[in-house]
Amino acid sequence: MKQFDFSNLKKGKKIVILTAYDCQVANILEKAGIDFILVGDSLGMVVLGHKDTKNVSMQEMLHHTKAVAAGAKNTPIIGDLPANSYNTIEDAVHNAKLFLDAGASAVKLEGNNSEIIRSLVSAKIPVVGHLGLLPQTAEKYSVQGTGDTAKAILQDSLELDSLGVIAIVLECIPDSLAKKITESVSCPTIGIGAGAHCDGQVLVINDLIGLNPDFNPKFVKKYADIAGEIKKAAKLFKEDVLNNRFPDEKHSFQ
Ligand code: KIV
Repeated sequence: MKQFDFSNLKKGKKIVILTAYDCQVANILEKAGIDFILVGDSLGMVVLGHKDTKNVSMQEMLHHTKAVAAGAKNTPIIGDLPANSYNTIEDAVHNAKLFLDAGASAVKLEGNNSEIIRSLVSAKIPVVGHLGLLPQTAEKYSVQGTGDTAKAILQDSLELDSLGVIAIVLECIPDSLAKKITESVSCPTIGIGAGAHCDGQVLVINDLIGLNPDFNPKFVKKYADIAGEIKKAAKLFKEDVLNNRFPDEKHSFQ
């Protein structure tokens, strides 16, 4: 386990987090100075082709956490406990320790599971909470906390904060609610679709670099068109091979 001091995170400078699932991308993010890398269970959707995140296994998460840890040796990694890996205190502590052994410095879990979080914290495992839209249990993906549920999300945030989580991810909630939560808790809030008032932001790397042209949610800003670049390169390669331009002398052994 990499040891990092998570105290004093909420000090005004925004916290920048991106997901990664493999060694090379993790290494690029480290060189770009990203503060934390999340090995998210979004792995199931963006890497493994599942329709949601509900069936990602611990084995798959650990496999990719090890790959990320190999590429980002100096960046704290957050391992996302997948659905059903923290149904009991024993499972949660056991599986969280497996993440730490795989190279993570903290684990994330969805919802207000106070007993589980308390046990992880007392086992000295740094925990990131996750409130708002909870993909592991959601029936459909929609903005949360717009009506009466706002109070419950604020209450859950206060409870997670008092349990000692190192940060809370707030997913798809109105920015006014995120602002209220951010001002009310002592730990940093990390937004994804939660507006500008959070202490930090997280995005899925595949969304940020435009790997899926068909996925365009409101909360994602695409900073590159890597799908377009890959397609262009693959087409050029195909044309070169078909027209005997590759491999040329320069790319062959004499
Ligand atoms: O799995 C994931 O990628 C997440 C998001 C909050 C980024 O949990």
